[in-house]
Amino acid sequence: MSARGFRGALLSVAHDPRDHADAIRHEPDGLLIVENGIVVARGDYQDVAPRYPGLAIEALPGLIVPGFIDAHIHYPQMDRIASHGAQLLDWLDTHIFPAEKAFADRAHADAVAAAFLTELLRNGTTSALVFATVHPQSLDALFEAAARRNMRIVAGKVLMDLGPEGLADTPHSGRAESEVLIRRWHGHKRLGYAVTPRFALTSSDAQLADTGALLAAHPDVLLHTHLAENLGECAAVAERFRDARDYLDVYDRFGLVGPRSVFAHGVHLSDRACARLHESGAGIAVCPSSNLFLGSGFFDFGQADRHSLRLGLGTDVGAGTSFSLLSTAGLAYQAALARGDRLDPFRALYLATAGSAGLLHIADRVGSLEPGQEADFVVLDTAATSLLARRTTGASLAEKLFALQVLGDDRAITRTYVLGECVWDKHADR
Ligand code: GUN
Ligand code: ZN
Repeated sequence: MSARGFRGALLSVAHDPRDHADAIRHEPDGLLIVENGIVVARGDYQDVAPRYPGLAIEALPGLIVPGFIDAHIHYPQMDRIASHGAQLLDWLDTHIFPAEKAFADRAHADAVAAAFLTELLRNGTTSALVFATVHPQSLDALFEAAARRNMRIVAGKVLMDLGPEGLADTPHSGRAESEVLIRRWHGHKRLGYAVTPRFALTSSDAQLADTGALLAAHPDVLLHTHLAENLGECAAVAERFRDARDYLDVYDRFGLVGPRSVFAHGVHLSDRACARLHESGAGIAVCPSSNLFLGSGFFDFGQADRHSLRLGLGTDVGAGTSFSLLSTAGLAYQAALARGDRLDPFRALYLATAGSAGLLHIADRVGSLEPGQEADFVVLDTAATSLLARRTTGASLAEKLFALQVLGDDRAITRTYVLGECVWDKHADR
C-alpha cells in the first residue's frame, strides 16, 4: 500500500482541554498523509504538501475528526433499543434478558454482530468497548466480524452466575471460558479483551472473587462493568453487601478496581468512591442518553472534575437511545447543565475520542489523529440537515461543533475511514 493524502479541515482534541491549554489541534486547510493505515504526517496543507510531490490527494469537504470511540455499549441489545416503560432492574428482566438468551445461537449472534458493526461505522464510531452476552460464541461472533472489518474493538464475554435460567454461567465455566477467549482474541489484529462481570448483582461472591483472580492472572486486559447507575440498583447492592463502604467498595474488595478498570455510569457516587477511583486510575464511561432513558439521573461532571476522574463517553445502547456519539455529546451537555455545569464542545469531542481511548488504553493508537496513530477518522458535514446548515453558516468552529452535537447524528457522518480506507460512505448505495 502506498502513501495517500487527505486534504480538509482537521480537528482533534488529544487531551482534556480542562487542564491542557493546547489540547485542541485545528488545521482549517490541513493535510493528513496515511501510509499502510498509519498517519505519517499531518499539518497545514501548504507546509506538508511540498514534502510529498506527486502524492495522490483526496479532498474531503467537511470537518475531519478522529473516529469516535464508544466507551460502553452492548451489541446484543441493539434490537431492544427503545423498549418502553421500565427502570433498570425491571427493564433488564422484561426486555434485555430474554433478548440476550437468543445469543446462544451462533447464527443469530453473527447476524446481529454484522449489523451492529455497520451501525457503528454509519455513526462514525470506529472503536468501542463492548458487552457481548454470557455465551462465549457471542464474543467469537463479534470479534470475527470486527477482525474482518479491521476495527479496533475491546470486548468480553459476560460473567453472570446469578443470571436467569438460560443466561447464567458458573464461577468455574465463566473463568474457563474467559481464559480461552483471552488466549484466542486478546492482541489478535486490533482486538482486545475486557473481563466483563455484568454488575455486582448478577455475580456471586465466589464469581466476583474469581474475576479478581482472573484479572490478576492477565494484567494486560481490561475490567468492564456497571457502577452506581440507577437508584433501585444501588439500594439492592447496599442491601446485599452490607459491609461494603459503598458500591465501588464491593468491586474493590474483590480486586476489580485499578487503572485498567472501566465503570459505566457512576451517576450516584460518594466522594469517597470518587477519591478511590482517582487514586486507582480507574475510568468512568459517561452514558447520558441511557441515564435519561432509564430514569437513572444526571452524571455529576462537577464532582468528577473535583476528583480529576478519567472520563470517556458511551452510548450504552440498548438503554442508550442512539448509536451516535455526536448526539450523545449533546445530551452530555444537557446532563451537565442540569447539575449546573457547562460542558465545552471541544471537551465533549475529547471525551468521545481521546478520552474514551484513554479509558480503553488505546490512546497511543487512536483518538487524536497524530502522526504514528492509526488512521481511523470521520468526515462530518456541518450542513447535513437544513437546520444544521442554517445554524452553522458563518458560525465559529466552537459553534459548529456544538451545533453538530446538539442537532447532529448519523446524518452528519459523510464518511468513515478505518486504517485509511473508506468503510462508510453516506452517499454510496448500501
Ligand atoms: N446493569 C447491568 N446490566 C446492565 C445492562 O445491560 N444495561 C445497563 N444500562 N445497565 C446494566
Ligand atoms: Zn450498559
